[in-house]
Amino acid sequence: MAKYKHTIVKNGKGGYVVFPPFVTQKEMDLIEEKFVVRDDDVFVTAYPKSGTTWMEQIVHLTLNNGVQGDKVLSEAVPWVEGINRYQGVEKLLNQQAKPRRFHSHLPYHLMPGAKLNLAKYIYVARNPKDNAISFYFHSCSKLGYDGTWDEFFDLYIQGKVGYGSFFDHVLDWWQASQKSNNILFVKYEDMKQDLRQAVKTVADFLGVKLDEELWEAIASQSSFESMAANPQANLDWVYQRPEFPKHMRKGIIGDWRNYFTTEQNQIFDEIYLKSMKDTDLQFDFGEGIII
Ligand code: A3P
Repeated sequence: MAKYKHTIVKNGKGGYVVFPPFVTQKEMDLIEEKFVVRDDDVFVTAYPKSGTTWMEQIVHLTLNNGVQGDKVLSEAVPWVEGINRYQGVEKLLNQQAKPRRFHSHLPYHLMPGAKLNLAKYIYVARNPKDNAISFYFHSCSKLGYDGTWDEFFDLYIQGKVGYGSFFDHVLDWWQASQKSNNILFVKYEDMKQDLRQAVKTVADFLGVKLDEELWEAIASQSSFESMAANPQANLDWVYQRPEFPKHMRKGIIGDWRNYFTTEQNQIFDEIYLKSMKDTDLQFDFGEGIII
């Protein structure tokens, strides 16, 4: 089995969860100690590879009157649990932007302030087959993973990849969103289907009024093509291994069909149906398959 570099941290529910190598219990303790959430803070949250950067771009533009500015997106909407890797806790918390804005992949139970219903949280979820494929390429290009897709598939279905099980992550956030007006739950596939509507939903949630021109500008600057061509938004600067695709890889629904074997698909469907049996949350897997 190929080695997937990781750490193990407390999951906030009495157990443990697999995290990426650069987020350890030390960072989580620091966050718990220092992160005082303000009621106007805005968090973009997601299981990795679900469209986090895409939502960061929409939120950033919405709060910034459609102006991209010269900061790269991951500085404009900094990464909560990346405190030691990138910005340091003071810079993270003392950002000049008002309201402060953050992005994070933390599970619901570890997210600063989430249970207090103080700040605003926008959670993006994506169908897990496309998510797994995107996560595989991300692990190869940015996390030094050198295993095969087949090996990654096994890790993914066991929840042994960064931030743990897709199902635990998404279902905890989904359930919380059903009980809280402070959490907006958005699906990647709905954003693909109607980006303008997604921008409107986000703006309404953030209490920002959009005129037609601004609305159009935000949607246009948030398209896959615009973001891929935009050095502030395309994350090329964190891209490490040129033999693998960049962060803005394909941005489509249904790419999993090019990689899942028939057997993997059967295994995945069984796990999916079992994990999702008690929820009304559904995902669009492309070509009209909604489960
Ligand atoms: P693919 O690898 O399937 O192309 P995250 O930001 O959470 O890491 O998610 C990355 C995924 O979102 C990548 O998926 C990326 O291409 C996709 N993505 C980013 N911006 C997008 C956009 N504007 N439209 C569609 N997909 C986008």
